[in-house]
Amino acid sequence: MPTKTPWDDGSLCYGGDWNPEQWPPDVWHEDVALMRAAGVNLVTVGVFAWSRLEPEPGRYTLDWLDDVLDLLHAAGIRAALATPTASPPPWFSLRHPDALPVTADGVRLTHGSRDTYCAAAPAYRAAARSIAEVLAARYAHHPALALWHVHNEYGTTCHCPRTEAAFRRWLTTRYGDLDALNDAWVTSFWSQHYSDWAQVGTPRATQYLANPGQLLDFRRFWSDTLLSAYTEQRDLLRAANPAVPVTTNYVLGDWVPVDHARWAREVDLVAIDHYPSATDLGAEEQTAFAADLARGWARHGAGRPVPWLLMESAPNQIHTAGRMHTKEPGRMTRHSLAHVARGSAGVMFFQWRAPAGGAERFHSAVVSHAGADTRVFRKAADLGAALGRLAGTAPGRVQAAVAIAYDAASGWALRHPGMPRDALDHPGEAAAVHRALWHAGVTADVVPPGAPLDGCRLLVLPALYLASDATVDWVRRHVHDGGHLLVTWLSGVADEHARVRLGGYPGAYRDLLGVRVEQFHPLADDEHVPLSGGGTGRIWSETVHPAGAETISAYAGGVLDGRPAITRNRVGDAYAWYVSTRPDDDTYRRLLTEAAGLAGVAPACPGAPSGVEAVRRQDGLLYLLNHTDRPQRVPAAGLDLLTGATVDGELTVAPGGVAVVREEIP
Ligand code: GLA
Repeated sequence: MPTKTPWDDGSLCYGGDWNPEQWPPDVWHEDVALMRAAGVNLVTVGVFAWSRLEPEPGRYTLDWLDDVLDLLHAAGIRAALATPTASPPPWFSLRHPDALPVTADGVRLTHGSRDTYCAAAPAYRAAARSIAEVLAARYAHHPALALWHVHNEYGTTCHCPRTEAAFRRWLTTRYGDLDALNDAWVTSFWSQHYSDWAQVGTPRATQYLANPGQLLDFRRFWSDTLLSAYTEQRDLLRAANPAVPVTTNYVLGDWVPVDHARWAREVDLVAIDHYPSATDLGAEEQTAFAADLARGWARHGAGRPVPWLLMESAPNQIHTAGRMHTKEPGRMTRHSLAHVARGSAGVMFFQWRAPAGGAERFHSAVVSHAGADTRVFRKAADLGAALGRLAGTAPGRVQAAVAIAYDAASGWALRHPGMPRDALDHPGEAAAVHRALWHAGVTADVVPPGAPLDGCRLLVLPALYLASDATVDWVRRHVHDGGHLLVTWLSGVADEHARVRLGGYPGAYRDLLGVRVEQFHPLADDEHVPLSGGGTGRIWSETVHPAGAETISAYAGGVLDGRPAITRNRVGDAYAWYVSTRPDDDTYRRLLTEAAGLAGVAPACPGAPSGVEAVRRQDGLLYLLNHTDRPQRVPAAGLDLLTGATVDGELTVAPGGVAVVREEIP
């Protein structure tokens, strides 16, 4: 009998990380009763429970987990059962000191937090497989089991001798011989030529700038190494019961530890953990971007569409630099439903109950230190009821005709300290483009290079620094098939090894764009260059020579006075735009609105007032999220699924509120 997942029957997943190992059984019963009251149907169990499951090597204590899963099953709540391998117990580290990770500075870390292991260490991998096998043997057919949740947020790194040896093996497979590696890494520079594989190491701390090709390949290698740690657990869990889907939760944020698009091929569900860092409207912008990223990985990374799920989010507070910011009333619901609008199979929180001690004792929780008689718990119960009303609607395809290309390796390559400016940031540029479109009301897909672009009218390359020949072909095919293109500064400058494509920037796309860039002029942090036609450019500028393109906006002042800043080239019936600076937010919004408009792309809900986020889906649902503190009127017709009210031409969305309209198809 295949195991049912919450999304199989059309219901949305709702719940979060639950840590019964931190509490006595009477609290488990209280928790499960509260979960039922809140409409919870899925909880993640056991993420960091290794020392409770295997207190000594080879001695397993699983009775408590039996009770927990039985209790959940009796209550009709399903489990995303985790393998606890993100936090090996102290006995493991003491027994296998050579499996502790080594930093780039050569410091071997000690036990005391979590994630202290080297993913290339055979002892760690063997111990991880063993505990996963024990769980698989015991629970693969447990009726509460809906999903295997392998590990937690793969992303640690290591530079130990074992890692170094594994890196060499990976390089041998990638390059075949040393000549190819020397060529890819341009080791003719600074006397770095390798004459024996034994000379090649991981990019440890060194005297001055490290080799960019070596750094980039190390990131790729490490992503693959972590992936193999995941897939070996996945394979044994799958073998125990092929009907149960397997996943691992992706960490998002400034730190992009692995190539999530590549990983999407190996999961049955893309799971993201999202914690916005902004406290203002930036939190909503980040939420929409994260959700669109996850949707892109789920739809395009895998080669086959898989569902995606918001696996962790904060119920009550937002982490910011230096303090926790309490979410304003309504915000938790809006953040949660913004993910659902964009296709998430549900909403999961970190965490269900706040612990009394431990490093994250003050992290937000549904059941806080104050108990359940709180605003956060009541809001969580309201959200559970709302998700119940949306049962049968998940996960729907989103209507989007703009695609933003996103590529982990381009982000890694731009972080090299030898770039012409510090803080160059491909994910940040992708987010800036997404933000500008979000403010224009235009929904975008965020896709890995190479993804099918059917239905895409405008493709945007935001500082997509690396361009392999395959990526260049992909972009060309889109334009030659009549698609519009918008390319921003730093895109297509280098090949997949981070070697500059010569002859003028951006080497990969010069002819498509009808421009040749002679030189970069990076700007200082406080520098703003006026642009003709209004607005300013920041961070970066360039000497652009038109070679067929028309100038849409020129630099107005400074050393580039009068030279093109933004250009547009006609290719067949479409346009290929080049943006050689980072326009300020308003200018970017206007520019992208124009580029989208010329490509025939309209806002998702043209009549929605500013501050109302609209997402239209192919299943006929229109999500409206009011991020303002005033009621907002939106043209719509159909049935509001959250209130049951008929909408007849116009709907008022409450301040900070959400409406989900099943639209009448005229
Ligand atoms: C991550 C982890 C959780 C927890 C939260 C705190 O997402 O997966 O274990 O540490 O962050 O924000």
